[in-house]
Amino acid sequence: MNILAFESSCDETSASVVLREGDSFIIKSNIIASQVDTHRLYGGVVPEIASRAHIEAISSITYEALEVAGVTLSDIDLVAVTANPGLIGALLVGVNFAKALAVSNNIPLVAVDHIKGHIASAFLSEGEVPKPPFVALAASGGHTAIYKMETYTDISLIGTTRDDAIGESFDKIGRMIGIPYPAGRGFDELSREGFIEATGDSENFYKKYKKSAAYKDAAMTLPSPALRDGSFDFSFSGLKTAAINLIHRYEQRGIELPRALFAARYTFEAVEAVAMKIDMALKANPGCDFVMAGGVAANSHLRHRLSEVARENGVKIFIPSMSLCGDNAAMIAASGYYEYLKNNFADSSLNASALDSVV
Ligand code: KG4
Ligand code: ZN
Repeated sequence: MNILAFESSCDETSASVVLREGDSFIIKSNIIASQVDTHRLYGGVVPEIASRAHIEAISSITYEALEVAGVTLSDIDLVAVTANPGLIGALLVGVNFAKALAVSNNIPLVAVDHIKGHIASAFLSEGEVPKPPFVALAASGGHTAIYKMETYTDISLIGTTRDDAIGESFDKIGRMIGIPYPAGRGFDELSREGFIEATGDSENFYKKYKKSAAYKDAAMTLPSPALRDGSFDFSFSGLKTAAINLIHRYEQRGIELPRALFAARYTFEAVEAVAMKIDMALKANPGCDFVMAGGVAANSHLRHRLSEVARENGVKIFIPSMSLCGDNAAMIAASGYYEYLKNNFADSSLNASALDSVV
């Protein structure tokens, strides 16, 4: 069956055609119109501008997705759309477009949760794919949460951030040290330079970092965002505030901030906190493999460290390819397929919601 899917929850408008054949998904097209160049001017996503840009892009990227896939609307068996969580105005564009298209062409419609969509990106791999139950990390601009996928559609929350998300914190602190929005990737690269500078080793820098003089530098101390209360939760706002204070202290003393060493330190605290909670979650859920998903799953240090945690726990780790970590509609198609199997159909009364459905 051919699935036409839409994603418009934040600053990427995406349409994709995914073919489900036998046991596998084949991505026929996955068109992503990114708005980051527009939002970069403001240092972050401006919701009203995002909604307008989705409206401008959605028709043409739909034509493009069909054309690249070599299909027409009459070949589409299912329409899937992100209905929550996200920016409400942005979501409404995709939801209304998908509804109109599905209803007027008599195609079944399913609503998809954006987070389940990110996790479902692991099902799009050409190699082995995860089988529920498994533990999943969703690390993005809006989420830092650990879930258990009980089945392909049933999900429960294990732990989450109580304030800021990891991606948002990279974006905000990155901006303060001159990395353009979205800062995640630039932060990743600058941290790599910092780790190498701290250890003098361009390969095993992460492992050696804790023994380096840079790590022991008291002026660079930052708190862990892992809450030490036995929960699986995080607080990234404490780390963010401490980082802002650290930057200000350097400014006040008239000393230039060693940007790369600072980025490395920040990344190390963020990654170690996630590693600690994922380790706890895997131990609490024996027999579960592990999926990491979301825009921050593109982070090279997090990928490296969580692969190590999975190995130590004797479980398999599934990480989507780089191109499927960020927001895209192919992941929405994969998640939508399983909603379809459960007969979780939506109709013309479908509405969007800014809120998480899994809390
Ligand atoms: O999943 P996503 O595309 O959108 C949301 O649903 O939020 O995630 C976007 C987030 C941004 O905060 C971006 O800075 C971050 O993912 N990101 C990264 C990397 N690539 C993207 N964060 C850390 N390291 C990266 N390599
Ligand atoms: Zn996302």
